Amino acid sequence: MIKIGIIGVGTVGTSVANILKDNADVISARAGRDIVVKSGVVKNLNKDRGLDIKITDNVDDILDDDEIDIVVELMGGVDEAFVVVKKALQNGKAVVTANKALLAYHRYELQEIAQDIAFEFEASVAGGIPIICALRDGLSANHIESIVGIMNGTCNYMMTEMTNNGVSYDAILQEAQYLGYAEADPTFDVGGYDAAHKLLILASIAYGIDAKPEDILIEGIENVSSEDIAFAKEFGYAIKLLAIAKKDKNEVELRVHAALIKQDEMIAKIDGVMNGVSVVGDKVGETLYYGAGAGGDATASAVVANIIDIVRSGKSTPMLGFNRPMEGDKLTLKPSEKIESKYYLRINVNDEAGVLAKLSKLFENNSISIETMLQRPSENSSANLLISTHIAVEKNVKNLINEIERLVFVNGRPAMIRII
Ligand code: HSE
Repeated sequence: MIKIGIIGVGTVGTSVANILKDNADVISARAGRDIVVKSGVVKNLNKDRGLDIKITDNVDDILDDDEIDIVVELMGGVDEAFVVVKKALQNGKAVVTANKALLAYHRYELQEIAQDIAFEFEASVAGGIPIICALRDGLSANHIESIVGIMNGTCNYMMTEMTNNGVSYDAILQEAQYLGYAEADPTFDVGGYDAAHKLLILASIAYGIDAKPEDILIEGIENVSSEDIAFAKEFGYAIKLLAIAKKDKNEVELRVHAALIKQDEMIAKIDGVMNGVSVVGDKVGETLYYGAGAGGDATASAVVANIIDIVRSGKSTPMLGFNRPMEGDKLTLKPSEKIESKYYLRINVNDEAGVLAKLSKLFENNSISIETMLQRPSENSSANLLISTHIAVEKNVKNLINEIERLVFVNGRPAMIRII
């Protein structure tokens, strides 16, 4: 019999214990052994979780328990979780975690510490979707050309509700928290950090890139206005928070931001709390993965799959999928100011003579070519200029926006959303 200790028995931890019980028949058949949860660590000993496992508030009760074979880390956070996971590995216990923030900062150190001890983390990216398994195993014959994902259920739920039902940002964020999609601190969701953590994990598996959140472009959905959502809808676009990894010769760009996507693209149709990830390999072409990215049972499904895999096969794959660094084709992170994209800009201006001439000069000075432009009357004799550009360089666009903001006939900072 295999014994599990769960550190952090919240929504996901409770689901893990329940799935191991509810589906014990198929799980033990697949694993070849019975698997039971022996104990769980919680902060609040008084809360009833309806589980018949030993509950403690001391992590060492699990880490130092010789009977426990696999530690499931669901406590979240970075520093404390790192200490706990490190000790579990040093004590020879296999570890399964759903903690993307921990991996965004410490995945290479943990790989080093784990060595031959199994360390799995399928639930850390896109909840129930087996994207790590797909990338690390199923697509391992390929050079990965790109990964484009909707990997934050909270943001996707919010953007979908704001687009389809005109619900306000604050109301829908509260709803997402109530439904248990959001992180303990929801700024991780709406600020794009949660998606960035997931992207960094995938980038290590796909490209061997060792980057931290601070190294990459991360923007959230806080600045996406209902005005832009309405314009996007009118012109046949959806707005989604995307996490993007793209290989360009020997550089890889990694970025998280809201993006306009044509409504007929598959990824634009991924709505609500669902996640979707498109991976393009040089041999396989495009592959697409879709499923629940948040919620107790979906996330726990991935945790339990890792547990079964460890019991069934022990340690076979290196944690991040590489047995040695790539030679000759070493990939480095592309600086974010070099990123190229098409852009949508909404500039609110006083509707008076000479405005367009002055603006178009700034576009020219920054080597940015306008693809389409539309003027819409707005409040108090102002107008919204809706502009899409041809492919432009990020640094030039940022510079252009700063210059436009300083013009006397411009009201507020122009809105900018990248177009995919
Ligand atoms: N807060 C995350 C989300 C949960 O909304 O997708 C899963 O990582």
